[in-house]
Amino acid sequence: MTIQADLMGSMTLEQLQEFDRNHHMHSFTAPEAMKQAPPFMIDSAEGSYVTGQNIRLLDAMAGLGCVNIGYGRKELADTAAHVMEKLSYYHSFAAVTNPYAAALSQKIASLAPSHLNKVFISNSGSEAVETALKLVALYWKNKGEPNRRAVITRDYAYHGSTIATAALNGNAEMANQFGFIDSTRILRAKAPYWYREGGEMTPDEFGIAAAQSVEATILEAGPENVAAFIGEPIQGTMGIIVPPVTYWPEVERICRKYGVLLIADEVVSGFGRTGHWFGQETFGFSADIMTLAKGLSSSYLPVSATVISDDVTSVIEGKSALLQHGFTTSGHPVTCAVALKNIMLLEEEGLVAAVREDKGPYLEGSLKTALGDHPLVGEIRVSGLMVAIEFAKDKGTREQYPADLAICDHVGQASLMQGLIVRPVGNVVVMCPPFIISHAEIDFICDVLAQACNNVHAALQS
Ligand SMILES: Cc1ncc(COP(=O)(O)O)c(C=O)c1O
Repeated sequence: MTIQADLMGSMTLEQLQEFDRNHHMHSFTAPEAMKQAPPFMIDSAEGSYVTGQNIRLLDAMAGLGCVNIGYGRKELADTAAHVMEKLSYYHSFAAVTNPYAAALSQKIASLAPSHLNKVFISNSGSEAVETALKLVALYWKNKGEPNRRAVITRDYAYHGSTIATAALNGNAEMANQFGFIDSTRILRAKAPYWYREGGEMTPDEFGIAAAQSVEATILEAGPENVAAFIGEPIQGTMGIIVPPVTYWPEVERICRKYGVLLIADEVVSGFGRTGHWFGQETFGFSADIMTLAKGLSSSYLPVSATVISDDVTSVIEGKSALLQHGFTTSGHPVTCAVALKNIMLLEEEGLVAAVREDKGPYLEGSLKTALGDHPLVGEIRVSGLMVAIEFAKDKGTREQYPADLAICDHVGQASLMQGLIVRPVGNVVVMCPPFIISHAEIDFICDVLAQACNNVHAALQS
């Protein structure tokens, strides 16, 4: 009997869709959407493509910006099978470890900026950020400054879905839907979103101004009350907001000036997506704590990491209290082995350099040729393989289309009909394709998007 038959018996597509509708509560899904149509069932994937219901789609989102190495890599499946047979599980509590958790921790430390050497392994990006928040609190407690409790986040931020991490999110509905958190400890600074908020300033001037809003937030709260600033090097989920080059060095300078810890949330940008191993290299700054997930294992299995600087580690470990934190599957041997193999493949195949020197520039050039002058398009932002196409009603004033026109959703839908997955976010089409994407696939993306934009623009005129 095949594994497929063993697990699924003779269940039909329609039965499975019904099971799903009745019993599967979906992330970030309106209940209405599940009532209107059966869920789309993806059941296989290879390279840059996913297939469902006999439809093959080019996935220019690499899942959720995570399958960096591409789908269906046998090397990763073989690694998982081998380690699962040898050591299906053991925990990493109470000074016990396994070879794969040990080797992965060393590997991450060797790739990370040189002062980031201690690695806490979790399962999801949210857990990695939540771990960072707990370690920050412990750091200030051990330092004898327990009043430093406030964390600065930014408009348009996305840091996760657990109670604490969701409270950091820039989108008010995401942050407040459940109402658990005493949000007085969450402070908000401006996002470095030049296209939408830069006004008459040049991007460089606005980068400094946005960083200075971090300083103003610190001063307003009182530096003695501020524990940390957290930011994604590029704000991904809310629209690939690529900061001006002046932004991050100024934020770092401000954090250092007031002794505020700097957390770089590299859940998306980590492991090559911006063309360097970490976004900190791309933007020229250095964090005290960095969080990683997605590209760590290309999401073949759930795994994440919080990487901590030598200084922070020495304060946390300086007091010998038990670390009251951990997950049953922290440092899971199979997930760690798969992550390690994924990193080895990124290295062996030169995929990070390929993003920087080939795929990223090729995609940027092709998109700008195809869409740069399109009447719908206001700005195209590209860093490595993080891409935003932002629509504007008026290119001069950068006025947005009204939300109810759902321009972006229409472009996304038109692209899907032609076999391309992109992600509409408000007035921005977002793409984070896999690193193995070919030039021909990039050409296809540009052709489909140009056609989709033409169709939507024509519909707007009629
Ligand atoms: C920057 C950032 N941080 C944290 C998260 C949360 O990761 P997860 O969904 O794995 O919990 C995400 C998810 O997209 C993210 O983009």
